[in-house]
Amino acid sequence: MKSQPSSSVVERAPEYVRAIAPYVGGKPIEEVARELDLDPATIVKLASNENPRGPSPRALAAIARAAADVTRYPDGNGYALKMALSAKLRIAPDQIVLGNGSNDVLELATQALLRPGDHAVYSQYAFIVYPLATQARGALGIEVPAKDHAHDLDAMRAAITPRTRMVFIANPNNPTGTWLAGEAVEAFIASVPRDVTVVLDEAYNEYLEPSQQSRSMAWIARYPNLIVSHTFSKAHGLAALRVGYGVTDAQLADLLNRVRQPFNVNSLAQAAALAALDDDAYVEESRRLNRAGMQQLERGLSVLRLRYLPSHGNFILIEVGDAQPVYEALLRQGIIVRPVGNYDLPTWLRVTVGTEAENARFLAALAPALASRASATTRAD
Ligand SMILES: Cc1ncc(COP(=O)(O)O)c(C=O)c1O
Repeated sequence: MKSQPSSSVVERAPEYVRAIAPYVGGKPIEEVARELDLDPATIVKLASNENPRGPSPRALAAIARAAADVTRYPDGNGYALKMALSAKLRIAPDQIVLGNGSNDVLELATQALLRPGDHAVYSQYAFIVYPLATQARGALGIEVPAKDHAHDLDAMRAAITPRTRMVFIANPNNPTGTWLAGEAVEAFIASVPRDVTVVLDEAYNEYLEPSQQSRSMAWIARYPNLIVSHTFSKAHGLAALRVGYGVTDAQLADLLNRVRQPFNVNSLAQAAALAALDDDAYVEESRRLNRAGMQQLERGLSVLRLRYLPSHGNFILIEVGDAQPVYEALLRQGIIVRPVGNYDLPTWLRVTVGTEAENARFLAALAPALASRASATTRAD
């Protein structure tokens, strides 16, 4: 039998998948150490919005205990963690979808609910996983211009058409750190047609002052088209373990649970999250240190006369002019921050709030790094 003219499997992959621009994360410490021949112990990473304090000691102890049993598959339904979340958030366990990070919850929502050609609405400068997850389904991302770098909810509402199946809101948003008051978000959700899913991503919720923290758990009962996602990666300091959760209407949770892989959250992550959930004091102290660190950075940036966006997260977006040479000059000084050219913000750097000592090192390194930008410009001239 004559074989068909061959074309590679990659060429035959859906065009919308081949067009995806790969996600670019913060550079790992080991990679920078290797590339620049630096001692990893001297490198400061302020590039991925991690908690500089690490996890709660209770979470670490839980991981050590759980490590003894890694030969067993984890509980695919995450019973203990769901029960604890249910009690804490006052929602039913069947309204929870556990995710391999909250990123997984965003993916599950698009996987379960978007068809090729559907529209998903999100803001300019919103978290980049929204366009990526949308595109991976062959759906069309509708990017709505931001207002003062923040979500423009009126414009987002106006962008919803009969073809819209999903809207993403990040509150606070990464990388801008902008935040929307709860009343505005709820009014927006109330205005969205009930056959359009609203994904409300609150990855940085714990960094908000308690008075600003959203009442989104109470909204779930009122809006069956709402999915709220939270994570243990940020204030709880468990980014490497990959655990987050979505909360939604029980029927919608059931749908999302059907498309998730059976053991998407490993047993160490479940045990650590359970212990971290119980350690409110640790999260509170992380919030306090973040606030102090943010003020430290803001003061230092004001001295350097640099513009920044006031941030409600554990990171800050700083305007430095041509950001790439500044980023590279910081790297050479052993400081990893995040360029955000992929967000169409090529003149800004995003810097995670570190410990007091890390923030001080960053600020001390920034002035010479800015000078290197000036000399790069002069050379180019
Ligand atoms: C706004 C936002 N949402 C979600 C995530 C995903 O985090 P994770 O998958 O670690 O929960 C991040 C991570 O940076 C984020 O910034």
